[in-house]
Amino acid sequence: MPGCRQIDTKDQDHWRFPEGTRMWEEISIAGVPVETRFLHRFGPGPDDFVFAAYLWRADQSGADLADLFGVQDANGTGHDVPSVAQCASCHGKLSERVLGFGAVQLSHSLPGETLTSLSQAGRLTVAPPPAGFGIPGGEPAVGYLHGNCGHCHNDTGVAVSLRLRALTTASAPGELGAVATTVGKKPAFFAVTGVTALVEPGAPDASAVWYRLSRRNDPAMPWVQMPPLGTALTDPGAEVVREWILSLGGAGGSSGSSGAGGASGAGGGAGAGGTAAGGGGSAGAGG
Ligand code: HEC
Ligand code: HEC
Repeated sequence: MPGCRQIDTKDQDHWRFPEGTRMWEEISIAGVPVETRFLHRFGPGPDDFVFAAYLWRADQSGADLADLFGVQDANGTGHDVPSVAQCASCHGKLSERVLGFGAVQLSHSLPGETLTSLSQAGRLTVAPPPAGFGIPGGEPAVGYLHGNCGHCHNDTGVAVSLRLRALTTASAPGELGAVATTVGKKPAFFAVTGVTALVEPGAPDASAVWYRLSRRNDPAMPWVQMPPLGTALTDPGAEVVREWILSLGGAGGSSGSSGAGGASGAGGGAGAGGTAAGGGGSAGAGG
């Protein structure tokens, strides 16, 4: 951010970044940088943002602006650089445009920038509460869905009732969109045999959320995978969502539910520390 400017944090769920803000995200494979993504707020208007992707040269001597339409299999790594139009599919559905650098994901106690360090440096117009904004209940799956799905599934995003962004205004697990809009709720657009709800307690395979999250490159239903773009492999970190859905089934007594019981125990017992770690973990998985 330029000079001493501040992030307007009046609305903790939608930070307003000052004109001149620049952010980068570096994507590396086995420690070797492949792509650097860039976003820049160049003016005060709501759409005054520019997005760009830079492709690293194979000899690592630098990175060059990538083709506007994206690059398949960058440097033979299997990684695809998205097109500039695709940046907007994910970054364009929230007014702040910035997706990972916000109140919930910065409420962690890991190394690096945190909500507290930003506040102490005078960078936030409204100071956060000392304990930050943990996710009520500290359930890691809720953090995962916030970081990986909430940028599309929110009040200004995709036109389905699913809400996966964790808002700082929620004060109990039942007020979180990831719970309130999923558990026992019928899917709007989705009819696959055996799938009975967005989240069917105790039954991940009957839950549209897990069904779509765990599928990739299905030739019969290419549209089914979630997220719909920018991913070709199932994320092993998504397993927390399966465990959470299993744990909602209560005392099932099977080996599956005993694993999930561990996860829900950790969530239920979480104080500020556990909650913060849940948020931080989801940020890592999102990247
Ligand atoms: C499939 C969705 C998706 C696409 C496509 C996408 N991004 Fe992102 N991007 C994200 C998410 C989610 C984060 C936050 C990651 C995290 O939690 O650390 C992010 C983070 C970033 C960041 C770091 C700042 C921030 O928002 O937290 C930059 C810069 C960025 N993306 C630029 C780009 C550019 C440029 C493109 C297009 C070339 C692009 N992104 C395409 C989802 C996407
Ligand atoms: C780039 C935007 C985008 C992202 C990111 C995204 N989705 Fe979606 N999602 C959509 C769109 C668009 C639809 C509606 C069309 C459809 O059903 O395919 C949808 C629909 C859904 C539905 C069906 C809802 C219903 O009521 O039928 C589920 C379930 C879902 N998404 C889960 C997820 C999960 C879980 C994630 C994160 C792992 C995710 N989505 C990430 C765009 C996105």
